[in-house]
Amino acid sequence: MGLARPLVVVVSMIVLAPSESTAEGDVGAGREKAARERCTECHGADGLATAPDQPNLAGQKPRYLAKQLHDFRLSARGQRSNARLGERRHPTMNANARDLSDQDLVDVAAWLASLPCGTGRQVAEAPRPQKASRCHICHGPQGFSEYAMVPNIGGQNRTYLERQLIVFRDSSRGQTEWLGNRREHPMMTPQSIPLTDQEVAELADYFASLGCEG
Ligand code: HEC
Ligand code: HEC
Repeated sequence: MGLARPLVVVVSMIVLAPSESTAEGDVGAGREKAARERCTECHGADGLATAPDQPNLAGQKPRYLAKQLHDFRLSARGQRSNARLGERRHPTMNANARDLSDQDLVDVAAWLASLPCGTGRQVAEAPRPQKASRCHICHGPQGFSEYAMVPNIGGQNRTYLERQLIVFRDSSRGQTEWLGNRREHPMMTPQSIPLTDQEVAELADYFASLGCEG
């Protein structure tokens, strides 16, 4: 009984979380725009990252992707996001997202989401840290989320996962932006706050070692 109420609150927040872009994207137009905007130089023609600090985007949730681009665009334009939706700043991605239109966001997101996530890369197995059980309610037991606005984290790049957790946590402490990065979200920030560097490293090892399809 003690757990029922928080669960209902969390789940309804996720389900009801408003999206800035609800329109359907056009996969073909998204593919062309990603090439034209040179997204593929870093994120790959197959949506798989070309460096460890970059995320794999293939097969990611489309509304989640569009929301991230929207967040980058907002901060690039010096606008503050709705506090309920969070904030995200990263110098490179701010520059990439600044001139995208609303339609570009959803088209590119639709294309990326349509790509197979499988990397074919072998990642060493990692033990499941105790704290991973806190992540399951939103990100799924295998790092594959059921919710449109919660990203899949199974099979994501290890370095990228580690950095995101540190950026969430350190942004909440009002610390100097780490390499110009900042990220806040009303659901994810509280999850990052109690994590030590060691726990972050173990969680990143674990989720990176899982398959990307749950
Ligand atoms: C110069 C390399 C580079 C280019 C070009 C680039 N990105 Fe990125 N992208 C990154 C990096 C690095 C990150 C991680 C940002 C962070 O740490 O917050 C990122 C993050 C993202 C994310 C967030 C993913 C997540 O899981 O939250 C999306 C979506 C994205 N990029 C889409 C795009 C699109 C669309 C374009 C083209 C308009 C593009 N990127 C161009 C390097 C790049
Ligand atoms: C209450 C729900 C919830 C819980 C519990 C939760 N997360 Fe999240 N997480 C989110 C949401 C929502 C986002 C997307 C935030 C945004 O839109 O910027 C997110 C984003 C992330 C990201 C960034 C992924 C990317 O592609 O950029 C990582 C990494 C992450 N979470 C890891 C974890 C870990 C590890 C745990 C457990 C310690 C955890 N989360 C627990 C809701 C949750």
